[in-house]
Amino acid sequence: MLKSKISPSLMCADIFNLRYIIDEFEKNNIEYLHLDVMDGHFVPNYCLGTDYCRRLKAGTKIPFDLHLMVTEPEKTLNAFNFEFSKEDIVSVHYESTDNIEKALELIRERGARAFLTINPDTPVETIRRYLGKFDGLLLMTVYPGFAGQKMVPGSLERITEARKLLDEAGYPEMSIEVDGNVNYEKAPLMKKAGADIFVVGTSSVLGPGDLGENILKMRNLLEEVSE
Ligand code: DX5
Ligand code: ZN
Repeated sequence: MLKSKISPSLMCADIFNLRYIIDEFEKNNIEYLHLDVMDGHFVPNYCLGTDYCRRLKAGTKIPFDLHLMVTEPEKTLNAFNFEFSKEDIVSVHYESTDNIEKALELIRERGARAFLTINPDTPVETIRRYLGKFDGLLLMTVYPGFAGQKMVPGSLERITEARKLLDEAGYPEMSIEVDGNVNYEKAPLMKKAGADIFVVGTSSVLGPGDLGENILKMRNLLEEVSE
């Protein structure tokens, strides 16, 4: 079972307290910052932009987990004109382009890890043909575009199916990231099913309560899950 990593979704963060929030994340060794970028076309919403990401990159060492909910990401990836490191993740949606391989290839060329993302209605089996061309899987547990949604039924089974497919194909070290309604009750179930990177938003860590305590609560709940 891979070590659990927490990736808070900054679209859910209180913008008036962002510096305090990032400092808390650094103090608590949060592994990633989840940055939801939306173009109002692939999803019916707009969110976070290149300037926001560039300024954030200059202000923290926490690796990025950039979630591109944009149409044809291969055509606009270079709008993120700052250095990526090999710790950074850039996720692109299978459903967002006819050339997902090009998008994944460009991400690797830019020095980040290329994560393939599939929506709840896309069969898990779809990822098989791209094995070797992506570095991790982002499995959406809600339909992308908005925070505060409920997990799509069947998501836990999909995590299990993806974990089995990757393990049997020779990728037992490949991460499965889950995004959407990762709350205190569901996160342990998602881990048990095979996920190791947890996008946490309004449903838990960036919801009500003290931020430091919320992080610790999520960490403990995940730690308690054994093989
Ligand atoms: C939705 C985004 C998610 C969302 C998570 O399209 O990809 O990252 O912000 O927020 P919650 O935890 O509220 O589902
Ligand atoms: Zn996201």
